[in-house]
Amino acid sequence: SYDRPFIDSLPKAELHLHIEGTLEPELKLELARRNGVDIGQSTVEQVRATYDFTDLTSFLAVYYPAMEVLVTEQDFYDLAMAYFERAAADGVVRAEIFFDPQAHTSRGVPFAAVVDGLWSAVQEARGLGVEAALIMCFLRDHSVESAEETLAASLPYRDRILGVGLDSDERGNPPEKFAAVFDAAKQAGYRLTMHCDIDQEQSIANIATVLHRIGVERIDHGTNILEDGSLVAEAKERGIGFTCCPLSNSFVTEQMKGQEITDLLRQGLKVSVASDDPAYFGGYVGDNLEALAIAQELSREEVVQVARNSLEISWADPQRVDAWV
Ligand code: ADE
Ligand code: ZN
Repeated sequence: SYDRPFIDSLPKAELHLHIEGTLEPELKLELARRNGVDIGQSTVEQVRATYDFTDLTSFLAVYYPAMEVLVTEQDFYDLAMAYFERAAADGVVRAEIFFDPQAHTSRGVPFAAVVDGLWSAVQEARGLGVEAALIMCFLRDHSVESAEETLAASLPYRDRILGVGLDSDERGNPPEKFAAVFDAAKQAGYRLTMHCDIDQEQSIANIATVLHRIGVERIDHGTNILEDGSLVAEAKERGIGFTCCPLSNSFVTEQMKGQEITDLLRQGLKVSVASDDPAYFGGYVGDNLEALAIAQELSREEVVQVARNSLEISWADPQRVDAWV
């Protein structure tokens, strides 16, 4: 393997991780038992067999029902702590984790249970050497009204949530649908990022919108920007961060998009590598960086650059970033 101890030794930030996507089959079974939820499977092998998908839509059709086992504050704490332990082993010193409140509140789980559980884990993660933060994502295939309600519900927890993002099914749900919600979130002091998923019908139009209308600091995925040289130049000039997820890409598009990621990196854009939904896509951040490095034959310097980029485009205190890089 590609000098894995070297990869693990590099201090890095994980900036594109859906905490619900870290639900490993073992924990899913444990939570199902604890909460008396019948998930229809009783062994790890049976659960793994349901992790069968070929694109984003078929992935999401497995992903959301799996969350039914997440019910109590304790469940969210346990989920996040299990992740932070894996992150620490991968050399992650900074983790800005996504969570999807609407995937839980729509099932009757209180917003407070989600945030309180995750926040306890965030505080506990310091003891593992991981400085963590929460990014709340709106589900783009839900209504604007639902996003507005979610933003309002988050305001009492404003000091525990660093930013907002946008995820779920992009088709038919372009960024401008949420422009006003993101304006309000920015007004409230949230940092902004958004998913621009791989090979969408309107990828370039949507990337232009997030850069020009929404005013994001980062784009999650976003490698289709290569189709428009002037947008590439603009993203470089503005220091826009990209959180690219090779193993996820190979599930939702059957390709890692390693060449695209590497092209952007070599053009000097702030490209980082992240894991998206590691329990489903076969690997955490170290696995993703290793897979990209092997496939593209990255030099040691390039691997170091990717790790450094992740820290530089993180939303950590700049003095902390200086100490890490
Ligand atoms: N939610 C969780 N994972 C996602 C992905 N890869 N794309 C869009 N929404 C998501
Ligand atoms: Zn994602």
